[in-house]
Amino acid sequence: MSIPAVLSSLSVTLAATTSTANPFLWYVTRAAAVSAYVTLSATVILGLLRSLARVSRLRNTRAIWLLDELHPYLAVLTVAFVVFHLLSLIFDPLIPFSLLNLALPLDQPYRPLPVDLGVLALYGLLVVWLSSWMKRRIAYASWRTLHYTSFIAFLLVTLHGIFAGSDSAEPWMILLYLGISGAVGILVLARIFWPAPQPTSASRVVASRRSR
Ligand code: HEM
Repeated sequence: MSIPAVLSSLSVTLAATTSTANPFLWYVTRAAAVSAYVTLSATVILGLLRSLARVSRLRNTRAIWLLDELHPYLAVLTVAFVVFHLLSLIFDPLIPFSLLNLALPLDQPYRPLPVDLGVLALYGLLVVWLSSWMKRRIAYASWRTLHYTSFIAFLLVTLHGIFAGSDSAEPWMILLYLGISGAVGILVLARIFWPAPQPTSASRVVASRRSR
């Protein structure tokens, strides 16, 4: 057999291997992505509920304790699912994603614009995760401002999922996107229009002592 014939049979074999490659990692990418979206959304929803509990001066200590415990726990779980989502993309031979593709919103090998939104969402999430990790070392006002990035990241992830995902047209995924976006939208509006808490008599005494 001549060398060109060997090379051509090799390339035919390689092409066949690629087209029938095991889609296992592609399923992992999608499962991790949907799990990350669910835990991220739950984190955002619990954060908004915690904020509403504060401005409405909710006294149920058990509910507040639960919100304070679950909110950071789900945030850490989201980090784990995002890592899975990205690692499976890197190791999946079906579409060649490089580390650079994950780090920079440039030259994507698949649905470029929606995937770039995922990269930008990742930047936003990194700002929120890192600032929360450093919360005790930075001013409260700075942490709070940086924490608002989570809304931009949530919006970017939602658009990224809808336009990059293979499951976007599935009825269960449409329900998930609509249900989650609706819940977040309603809670954001409730938080914006919730009347600011009136100062209590104790806080008025402290304020008047400070002004003397
Ligand atoms: C460097 C950043 C990212 C890259 C390169 C990336 C890449 C991708 C790709 C290629 C897909 C299409 C997979 C498919 O066919 O379904 C996808 C889908 C998706 N990604 Fe990302 N992603 C990134 C960040 C994120 C983050 C941070 C989240 C969530 C926290 C996320 C959530 C999703 C969701 C929900 C889908 C739709 C899954 C489906 O429809 O089954 N992605 N991403």
